Amino acid sequence: MAAGRWGWGLLLVLLGLVLVPVLVLLGVTRRLRRRFAAAPRGSAAGEAAVARALVLTAHPDDEAMFFAPTLLALGRAGGRPAVLCCSAGNYYNQGEIRKKELEQSCSLLGIPASNVTVVDHRDLPDNPSVEWDTQLLAAFVLKHIEDNNINLVVSFDAGGVSGHANHISLYTALRYLHSEQKLPEGCRVLVLESVNLFRKYLSVLDVPLSCLLPSDALFVLTEEETEQARRAMRCHRSQLLWFRHLYMLFSRYMVINSLHLL
Ligand SMILES: *[C@@H]1O[C@H](CO)[C@@H](O)[C@H](O)[C@H]1NC(C)=O
Ligand SMILES: [Zn+2]
Repeated sequence: MAAGRWGWGLLLVLLGLVLVPVLVLLGVTRRLRRRFAAAPRGSAAGEAAVARALVLTAHPDDEAMFFAPTLLALGRAGGRPAVLCCSAGNYYNQGEIRKKELEQSCSLLGIPASNVTVVDHRDLPDNPSVEWDTQLLAAFVLKHIEDNNINLVVSFDAGGVSGHANHISLYTALRYLHSEQKLPEGCRVLVLESVNLFRKYLSVLDVPLSCLLPSDALFVLTEEETEQARRAMRCHRSQLLWFRHLYMLFSRYMVINSLHLL
Protein backbone atom coordinates (compact mmCIF):
# COMPACT_ATOMS: atom_id res chain seq x y z
CA MET A 1 0.00 0.00 0.00
CA ALA A 2 2.60 2.50 1.12
CA ALA A 3 4.87 1.40 -1.70
CA GLY A 4 2.04 2.05 -4.19
CA ARG A 5 1.50 5.59 -2.89
CA TRP A 6 5.20 6.21 -3.08
CA GLY A 7 5.19 4.98 -6.65
CA TRP A 8 2.46 7.43 -7.65
CA GLY A 9 4.15 10.28 -5.86
CA LEU A 10 7.42 9.61 -7.61
CA LEU A 11 5.66 9.43 -10.95
CA LEU A 12 4.02 12.82 -10.38
CA VAL A 13 7.30 14.41 -9.37
CA LEU A 14 9.04 13.02 -12.43
CA LEU A 15 6.20 14.19 -14.65
CA GLY A 16 6.46 17.65 -13.14
CA LEU A 17 10.21 17.66 -13.66
CA VAL A 18 9.69 17.00 -17.36
CA LEU A 19 6.50 18.91 -17.99
CA VAL A 20 7.38 22.19 -16.30
CA PRO A 21 10.62 22.78 -18.25
CA VAL A 22 8.89 21.81 -21.51
CA LEU A 23 6.07 24.29 -20.87
CA VAL A 24 8.54 27.01 -19.93
CA LEU A 25 10.58 26.29 -23.06
CA LEU A 26 7.48 26.45 -25.25
CA GLY A 27 6.43 29.74 -23.66
CA VAL A 28 9.85 31.32 -24.06
CA THR A 29 10.05 30.07 -27.64
CA ARG A 30 6.70 31.63 -28.53
CA ARG A 31 7.66 34.98 -27.10
CA LEU A 32 11.08 35.07 -28.70
CA ARG A 33 9.66 33.98 -32.02
CA ARG A 34 7.15 36.82 -31.98
CA ARG A 35 9.74 39.34 -30.91
CA PHE A 36 12.33 38.40 -33.52
CA ALA A 37 9.77 37.96 -36.29
CA ALA A 38 8.65 41.52 -35.60
CA ALA A 39 12.20 42.90 -35.56
CA PRO A 40 15.08 40.88 -37.00
CA ARG A 41 18.24 41.08 -34.93
CA GLY A 42 21.81 41.84 -35.94
CA SER A 43 24.00 44.58 -37.32
CA ALA A 44 23.49 43.34 -40.87
CA ALA A 45 19.74 42.69 -40.63
CA GLY A 46 18.67 46.31 -40.95
CA GLU A 47 20.85 47.08 -43.91
CA ALA A 48 19.83 43.80 -45.55
CA ALA A 49 16.27 45.05 -45.84
CA VAL A 50 17.28 48.08 -47.86
CA ALA A 51 20.02 46.33 -49.84
CA ARG A 52 19.83 45.10 -53.38
CA ALA A 53 20.11 41.55 -52.19
CA LEU A 54 20.91 38.38 -54.09
CA VAL A 55 20.37 34.92 -52.65
CA LEU A 56 22.84 32.57 -54.29
CA THR A 57 21.77 28.91 -54.39
CA ALA A 58 23.02 25.69 -55.98
CA HIS A 59 19.79 23.83 -56.75
CA PRO A 60 16.13 24.61 -57.40
CA ASP A 61 14.60 24.03 -53.92
CA ASP A 62 17.54 25.45 -51.91
CA GLU A 63 15.71 28.78 -51.83
CA ALA A 64 12.68 27.16 -50.11
CA MET A 65 14.50 24.50 -48.05
CA PHE A 66 17.14 26.79 -46.57
CA PHE A 67 16.64 30.47 -47.37
CA ALA A 68 12.89 31.02 -46.99
CA PRO A 69 13.32 32.90 -43.65
CA THR A 70 15.79 35.32 -45.26
CA LEU A 71 13.73 35.81 -48.42
CA LEU A 72 10.45 36.30 -46.57
CA ALA A 73 11.98 38.55 -43.89
CA LEU A 74 13.58 40.78 -46.53
CA GLY A 75 10.30 40.92 -48.44
CA ARG A 76 8.42 41.75 -45.23
CA ALA A 77 10.78 44.69 -44.66
CA GLY A 78 10.18 45.98 -48.17
CA GLY A 79 13.29 44.48 -49.81
CA ARG A 80 13.16 42.98 -53.28
CA PRO A 81 15.69 40.14 -53.18
CA ALA A 82 16.65 38.21 -56.31
CA VAL A 83 17.69 34.57 -56.65
CA LEU A 84 20.58 33.18 -58.70
CA CYS A 85 20.50 29.38 -58.85
CA CYS A 86 23.73 27.91 -60.18
CA SER A 87 22.35 24.64 -61.59
CA ALA A 88 19.07 23.38 -63.03
CA GLY A 89 19.11 20.45 -60.58
CA ASN A 90 19.63 17.99 -63.38
CA TYR A 91 21.02 15.06 -61.36
CA TYR A 92 18.01 12.89 -62.25
CA ASN A 93 17.44 14.60 -65.62
CA GLN A 94 14.62 16.72 -64.25
CA GLY A 95 16.23 20.06 -65.07
CA GLU A 96 13.38 21.44 -67.17
CA ILE A 97 10.66 20.54 -64.64
CA ARG A 98 12.76 21.86 -61.80
CA LYS A 99 13.30 25.25 -63.40
CA LYS A 100 9.52 25.69 -63.55
CA GLU A 101 9.15 24.55 -59.94
CA LEU A 102 11.77 27.10 -58.94
CA GLU A 103 9.81 29.90 -60.57
CA GLN A 104 6.59 28.87 -58.78
CA SER A 105 8.35 28.54 -55.44
CA CYS A 106 10.00 31.94 -55.80
CA SER A 107 6.71 33.52 -56.75
CA LEU A 108 5.23 32.26 -53.46
CA LEU A 109 8.25 33.70 -51.67
CA GLY A 110 7.56 37.08 -53.25
CA ILE A 111 10.17 37.00 -56.01
CA PRO A 112 8.93 37.62 -59.55
CA ALA A 113 10.22 35.40 -62.38
CA SER A 114 12.20 38.36 -63.74
CA ASN A 115 14.37 38.20 -60.61
CA VAL A 116 15.04 34.47 -60.79
CA THR A 117 18.04 33.38 -62.83
CA VAL A 118 19.27 29.84 -63.44
CA VAL A 119 22.83 29.14 -64.54
CA ASP A 120 22.71 25.92 -66.54
CA HIS A 121 26.30 25.13 -67.45
CA ARG A 122 27.65 21.66 -68.19
CA ASP A 123 30.73 22.28 -66.04
CA LEU A 124 28.53 23.16 -63.05
CA PRO A 125 26.55 19.92 -62.75
CA ASP A 126 24.08 19.12 -59.99
CA ASN A 127 26.13 16.39 -58.35
CA PRO A 128 26.98 15.82 -54.67
CA SER A 129 30.43 14.47 -55.57
CA VAL A 130 31.47 17.33 -57.85
CA GLU A 131 33.23 20.42 -56.53
CA TRP A 132 32.50 23.23 -58.92
CA ASP A 133 35.40 25.12 -60.45
CA THR A 134 35.92 28.20 -58.29
CA GLN A 135 37.05 30.52 -61.10
CA LEU A 136 34.22 29.56 -63.45
CA LEU A 137 31.58 29.86 -60.73
CA ALA A 138 33.04 33.12 -59.40
CA ALA A 139 32.93 34.61 -62.91
CA PHE A 140 29.20 33.84 -63.30
CA VAL A 141 28.41 35.17 -59.84
CA LEU A 142 30.46 38.34 -60.23
CA LYS A 143 28.88 39.14 -63.59
CA HIS A 144 25.41 38.80 -62.11
CA ILE A 145 26.36 40.99 -59.15
CA GLU A 146 27.76 43.70 -61.40
CA ASP A 147 24.95 43.59 -63.98
CA ASN A 148 22.30 43.97 -61.27
CA ASN A 149 24.08 46.37 -58.90
CA ILE A 150 23.85 43.84 -56.10
CA ASN A 151 25.26 45.06 -52.77
CA LEU A 152 24.41 42.10 -50.56
CA VAL A 153 24.95 38.44 -51.39
CA VAL A 154 23.47 35.70 -49.19
CA SER A 155 24.61 32.09 -49.55
CA PHE A 156 25.85 28.98 -47.74
CA ASP A 157 28.71 28.83 -45.25
CA ALA A 158 31.62 26.36 -45.31
CA GLY A 159 29.33 23.62 -43.98
CA GLY A 160 26.79 24.09 -46.78
CA VAL A 161 23.97 23.28 -44.27
CA SER A 162 23.58 19.77 -45.67
CA GLY A 163 27.23 19.33 -46.60
CA HIS A 164 26.41 19.09 -50.33
CA ALA A 165 29.61 19.72 -52.34
CA ASN A 166 27.78 22.14 -54.65
CA HIS A 167 26.63 24.26 -51.69
CA ILE A 168 30.18 24.42 -50.35
CA SER A 169 31.43 25.43 -53.81
CA LEU A 170 29.28 28.55 -53.62
CA TYR A 171 30.90 29.49 -50.33
CA THR A 172 34.37 28.85 -51.77
CA ALA A 173 33.64 31.08 -54.77
CA LEU A 174 32.26 33.89 -52.58
CA ARG A 175 35.17 33.69 -50.19
CA TYR A 176 37.52 33.89 -53.17
CA LEU A 177 35.73 36.96 -54.59
CA HIS A 178 35.68 38.55 -51.13
CA SER A 179 39.29 37.90 -50.13
CA GLU A 180 40.67 38.86 -53.56
CA GLN A 181 38.62 42.07 -53.30
CA LYS A 182 36.92 41.43 -56.61
CA LEU A 183 33.46 42.31 -55.34
CA PRO A 184 32.18 45.81 -56.11
CA GLU A 185 32.87 48.40 -53.41
CA GLY A 186 30.42 48.09 -50.53
CA CYS A 187 29.09 44.69 -51.57
CA ARG A 188 28.71 42.55 -48.47
CA VAL A 189 28.40 38.80 -48.10
CA LEU A 190 26.23 37.03 -45.51
CA VAL A 191 26.54 33.27 -45.10
CA LEU A 192 23.90 30.98 -43.65
CA GLU A 193 25.05 29.24 -40.49
CA SER A 194 25.18 25.42 -40.62
CA VAL A 195 24.09 23.98 -37.28
CA ASN A 196 24.58 20.46 -35.92
CA LEU A 197 22.12 17.68 -36.66
CA PHE A 198 20.38 17.95 -33.30
CA ARG A 199 19.63 21.65 -33.68
CA LYS A 200 18.81 21.26 -37.36
CA TYR A 201 15.68 19.24 -36.62
CA LEU A 202 14.48 21.09 -33.52
CA SER A 203 12.25 23.29 -35.66
CA VAL A 204 11.01 26.30 -33.72
CA LEU A 205 12.54 25.02 -30.46
CA ASP A 206 15.91 26.16 -31.81
CA VAL A 207 14.73 29.79 -31.57
CA PRO A 208 15.97 30.36 -27.97
CA LEU A 209 19.44 29.00 -28.73
CA SER A 210 19.66 30.94 -32.01
CA CYS A 211 18.79 34.11 -30.08
CA LEU A 212 21.44 33.43 -27.45
CA LEU A 213 24.28 32.75 -29.88
CA PRO A 214 25.88 35.65 -31.73
CA SER A 215 25.08 36.27 -35.40
CA ASP A 216 25.19 39.25 -37.76
CA ALA A 217 21.61 38.72 -38.87
CA LEU A 218 18.84 36.59 -37.42
CA PHE A 219 15.59 36.13 -39.29
CA VAL A 220 12.68 34.27 -37.67
CA LEU A 221 9.35 33.57 -39.36
CA THR A 222 5.88 33.76 -37.85
CA GLU A 223 3.63 30.71 -38.05
CA GLU A 224 1.85 32.15 -41.10
CA GLU A 225 5.13 32.87 -42.85
CA THR A 226 6.40 29.38 -42.05
CA GLU A 227 3.29 28.01 -43.72
CA GLN A 228 4.11 30.19 -46.72
CA ALA A 229 7.62 28.69 -46.78
CA ARG A 230 6.10 25.19 -46.72
CA ARG A 231 3.84 26.09 -49.63
CA ALA A 232 6.91 27.23 -51.57
CA MET A 233 8.60 23.95 -50.72
CA ARG A 234 5.58 22.01 -52.02
CA CYS A 235 6.05 23.65 -55.43
CA HIS A 236 9.04 21.35 -55.84
CA ARG A 237 6.76 18.45 -56.61
CA SER A 238 9.44 16.37 -58.32
CA GLN A 239 11.41 16.42 -55.04
CA LEU A 240 8.66 15.71 -52.53
CA LEU A 241 9.70 12.30 -51.27
CA TRP A 242 8.49 11.23 -47.81
CA PHE A 243 11.55 12.54 -46.00
CA ARG A 244 11.00 16.01 -47.46
CA HIS A 245 7.68 16.13 -45.66
CA LEU A 246 9.49 15.34 -42.41
CA TYR A 247 12.05 18.00 -43.27
CA MET A 248 9.29 20.57 -43.71
CA LEU A 249 7.89 19.73 -40.28
CA PHE A 250 11.10 19.56 -38.31
CA SER A 251 13.84 21.62 -39.97
CA ARG A 252 14.74 24.85 -38.22
CA TYR A 253 15.62 26.26 -41.64
CA MET A 254 11.90 26.52 -42.40
CA VAL A 255 11.66 28.97 -39.48
CA ILE A 256 15.10 30.41 -38.65
CA ASN A 257 18.08 31.76 -40.58
CA SER A 258 21.12 32.88 -38.59
CA LEU A 259 23.77 34.48 -40.78
CA HIS A 260 27.33 35.73 -40.49
CA LEU A 261 29.18 38.38 -42.47
CA LEU A 262 32.28 37.30 -44.36
C1 LIG B 1 14.61 42.40 -60.47
O1 LIG B 1 14.16 42.49 -61.81
C2 LIG B 1 13.89 43.80 -62.26
C3 LIG B 1 13.28 43.70 -63.65
O2 LIG B 1 14.10 42.93 -64.50
C4 LIG B 1 15.20 44.60 -62.23
O3 LIG B 1 14.95 45.92 -62.63
C5 LIG B 1 15.75 44.59 -60.81
O4 LIG B 1 16.99 45.22 -60.80
C6 LIG B 1 15.93 43.16 -60.31
N1 LIG B 1 16.36 43.16 -58.91
C7 LIG B 1 17.48 42.56 -58.48
C8 LIG B 1 17.77 42.67 -57.02
O5 LIG B 1 18.24 41.94 -59.20
ZN1 LIG C 1 20.97 22.08 -52.74
